Amino acid sequence: MAQTDREKTILWQLEEADDLLQRRSLDSSYSEVRIQRLPVEQLVFEAAQHLRADELVAFPTETVYGLGASAVSSKALLRVFAAKKRPLDNPLIAHVSSLTQLEQLTTHVPSLAQQLMDAFWPGPLSILLPARRDLPKELTAGLPTVAVRMPRHPLTLALIEEVGMPLAGPSANRSGRPSPTKAQHVLEDLAGEIAGVIDGGTCSVGIESTVIEIMDGRIVILRPGDITSADLKSFGVPVVYDQHLVEPQEEAAVPRSPGQKYRHYAPRGEMRVLIGETAACRKYVREAIGLAHNQGKRVAVLGFESSIGEGADFFLDLGNSSQTIAAHLYEALRACDEAAIDLVFVRGYEPSESHFALMNRLFKASGGAFIDLR
Ligand code: TXA
Ligand code: MG
Repeated sequence: MAQTDREKTILWQLEEADDLLQRRSLDSSYSEVRIQRLPVEQLVFEAAQHLRADELVAFPTETVYGLGASAVSSKALLRVFAAKKRPLDNPLIAHVSSLTQLEQLTTHVPSLAQQLMDAFWPGPLSILLPARRDLPKELTAGLPTVAVRMPRHPLTLALIEEVGMPLAGPSANRSGRPSPTKAQHVLEDLAGEIAGVIDGGTCSVGIESTVIEIMDGRIVILRPGDITSADLKSFGVPVVYDQHLVEPQEEAAVPRSPGQKYRHYAPRGEMRVLIGETAACRKYVREAIGLAHNQGKRVAVLGFESSIGEGADFFLDLGNSSQTIAAHLYEALRACDEAAIDLVFVRGYEPSESHFALMNRLFKASGGAFIDLR
């Protein structure tokens, strides 16, 4: 049965943003999408109306695209879990555009949390605060805390302001797929299933926010991100990683952050992360490509200089720091799926504060397949 216009997902683009090429390619590849080009005020107004009606609207942030829904409506939140096929015991992050909106979520903002907000918001830091008891249990998964953050994207800040309430925003991918860093990625996973997507360009950070909890006078990092433990150390309290981040294979204990227990971001092919000098990686990859090709497998090489990618079926260099690799990782993994890659080699780094977030995502995406060539 043909879908009516009402059931299509709207792709909102700014009238002033001139990317007709992208517009044409989206037009042809997604029959479930209707493009609307509007001036900023009207775009924000229309998207907000859908959110007030408990519908889902994906929004851009500096980290990844979020699947927006009213954080105070059980009906809207249940739609998030259904669209993403996300387990109900994994709580969501509430996104605010002002500190005043925190009153709708929490009973108390500790002074250390306030200092961290002053320093890092808007930005990629999510902070656990004591949850108001009247919050929907779908938001917190019934936990006594609620995760909050103020994202750094002008369209999304304007959107939350217009809606007038915090927005839940899990990454706008289907569970198990790499998080979306472009509006197009959201459509790949969710076109036809959500009311709309706001096209805010490419996400600059590219991996999800740092999630922290303040406990017993310490800052505990539950999920590493662009804001590192080094960034958090200047507040006069110890900064520690949650046990599950340090020993990810330990399955006995219950993780403090439910999201830690799910495998994420998995490409369809097998993935191996190589850590070592260029020469050692070049030798390893050359031999592995030979073996894989003998078995009829297609190989991708990501994050290395081009000489290491020689002979691979797919190659992306991704820049030369762990930050640039992080920024492009999810898009690269999606591209590997598209190119029907069976085996992906990615550049890894020795574990240190500044590489921790990238290595955490690589660990999850590869199922822990780290190959140390040092
Ligand atoms: O950068 C981001 O944070 C993105 C963008 C869209 O803002 N959002 C995002 O949301 O990554 P999501 O739902 O994919 O990840 C939320 C993470 C999960 O690992 C979840 O378990 C954890 O935060 N979390 C949320 N509330 C929590 C709570 N009360 N206690 C412990 N962990 C919590
Ligand atoms: Mg996610």
